Amino acid sequence: MNHYQIQDLESYFKAYRASVDHPEVFWESIAKENFLWKKPWNNVLSWDFEKPEIRWFDGAELNITENCIDRHLSTKSEQTAILFEPNNPAEPAQHITYAQLSEEVNKMANVLKSQGVNKGDRVCIYLPMIPELAYTVLACARIGAIHSVVFAGFSASALSSRINDCDAKIVVTADGSFRGAKTIDLKAIVDKALKESPQVETVLVAERIHNGTPLKEGRDHYLKPLTDEASSHCEAESMQAEDPLFILYTSGSTGKPKGMVHSCGGYMVYTAYTFKNIFQYQQGDVYWCTADIGWITGHSYILYGPLANGATTLMFEGVPSYPDFGRFWQIVEKHKVNQFYTAPTAIRALAKESTDHVNASDLSSLKVLGSVGEPINEEAWHWYNEQVGKKKSPIVDTWWQTETGGILISPIPYVTPTTPTYATLPFLGVQPALMDADSNEISGNSVEGSLCIKFPWPSIARTIWGDHKRYKETYFTAFPGCYFTGDGASRNEVGYYRITGRVDDVIIVSGHNLGTAPIEDAINEHDEVAESAIVGVPHSIKGNALFGYVILKNQEDNTDLDFLQKDINRLITEKIGPIAKLDIVVFVPGLPKTRSGKIMRRILRKIATKDVSNLGDTSTLLNPEIVAQIRTIVGV
Ligand code: WT7
Repeated sequence: MNHYQIQDLESYFKAYRASVDHPEVFWESIAKENFLWKKPWNNVLSWDFEKPEIRWFDGAELNITENCIDRHLSTKSEQTAILFEPNNPAEPAQHITYAQLSEEVNKMANVLKSQGVNKGDRVCIYLPMIPELAYTVLACARIGAIHSVVFAGFSASALSSRINDCDAKIVVTADGSFRGAKTIDLKAIVDKALKESPQVETVLVAERIHNGTPLKEGRDHYLKPLTDEASSHCEAESMQAEDPLFILYTSGSTGKPKGMVHSCGGYMVYTAYTFKNIFQYQQGDVYWCTADIGWITGHSYILYGPLANGATTLMFEGVPSYPDFGRFWQIVEKHKVNQFYTAPTAIRALAKESTDHVNASDLSSLKVLGSVGEPINEEAWHWYNEQVGKKKSPIVDTWWQTETGGILISPIPYVTPTTPTYATLPFLGVQPALMDADSNEISGNSVEGSLCIKFPWPSIARTIWGDHKRYKETYFTAFPGCYFTGDGASRNEVGYYRITGRVDDVIIVSGHNLGTAPIEDAINEHDEVAESAIVGVPHSIKGNALFGYVILKNQEDNTDLDFLQKDINRLITEKIGPIAKLDIVVFVPGLPKTRSGKIMRRILRKIATKDVSNLGDTSTLLNPEIVAQIRTIVGV
């Protein structure tokens, strides 16, 4: 039975049952009938969440770029694969066909090879949203090099720590980038980062802003002369299904970012299959995901998922506010976008502006609207549904994570009836469970708990690069035998899931996943700072804003607190990036701590949100008196 595209609720339930009762049979048929394998698998699945070890399609060989490019060439060589819309609306869009994509990726693959990149080597990609980013990602996949894309909004120090963690010897970047009215000197950031990453031997530089950035002799090369010379034929490397395809870093609640490792086979099958169903993509449609390829959303649902389906995927270089707040809608009209996928933070920012911006464009091409990155609040959901979708396009609220590789809980549009703020039902093969504090599964409906997944799906990350122990501790220890997501969720009376937010120390700001620890580490590096703690407080556009409690080494001598706040934010920008800047800073004499020395964030969160009615028992704290002092300073 072919379940490749689900088209009604009854088939969803039937297929879901099959996918849970006989997961191997289910995934084997999806994998066999819809992809190109160089060699079949010996075993569909083996798994052990204790170790943990997960293997899908073991023994199979493939190359994901043959699935994303080559196999479409006989029927779609002149169809647009990537539709590039530049930052500046006056610059023409580029319709990159499958034939051109093939040529560019093969050339880029040959350039990487000529620079000494071999199968298994890590390639750090620090590029803005320009076609070269897509070419480089796919070129790595073509030759079996492991790409590690670092979002080009990250700072030099965030970049170098990611380069060092996976020991990349080559960085692919651009001279600079355009973002709205600004230009950013990306290469200068790379130069700064490489002072801390001396092992990098080669830097390839795409020219985007033509600023004549200085090239370091022997290390740096412009890309264009190399690709001009390169052959447009590069044999696709044969990869084991379980070979790593890429590393992508995500913030953790503690310590350094985690390099999530995704596999070639399972990742391909799952992202392609979810893309086809969750966006109900039909041949000829134009699909647009507004994420940056620096995040997992861009990996899975700008590049791999859509391209594996032979889709036309739009790649936008700019920002929603440039030249004005109507840009997204102008692009939808210009390219007759059929599926539009964005984040609640963007929706809220646009909803604050006049609806004239939306109404000025013809949005009648839209068939499906997607949301991802954080819980979508009721108001934003309705605005999206009414103003953008004109109540005709179902909203797919897609819940997933960097670690999950693909969407796990989501409606299927025109199949699953939607309910505002609910991600609704698990995707095929996904077995969610809500757990209580004693690690017992909560059965029945109208319940709430910690969200776990009981059974592997093909695109689950296989490990954390260089730290399998941390992988086990982070995801497989809190609830033995299950993958723990870090999120809380409720299940309503009809069994729909609603994600309520992180239950750990991760704060989502404008859809960016920020760990409290790295930000606190950055603050604590300030000469005047003794200690700090940050919490998230609700924010009307960003979802959460960062509220920092800072203890100074010498409070009496520091009278210019405004300056200090700016200086702390300068340091955070330097260490992490502007996204992690604090919105509110209060200087306090101490922090509430447990007797084991753990900061009681729960109390700090309540004070920051001015919700002090139920602070709980503070008498067991190491320093109970501090609570009243902090309340006085904050004024609650
Ligand atoms: C965390 C993962 C997956 C791509 C973007 C984020 C939150 C994500 C939703 C949603 C409620 C959501 C969760 C999750 N999240 N999508 N539809 N509803 N929350 O990837 O940076 O790895 O963040 O984002 O808290 O754990 P990420």
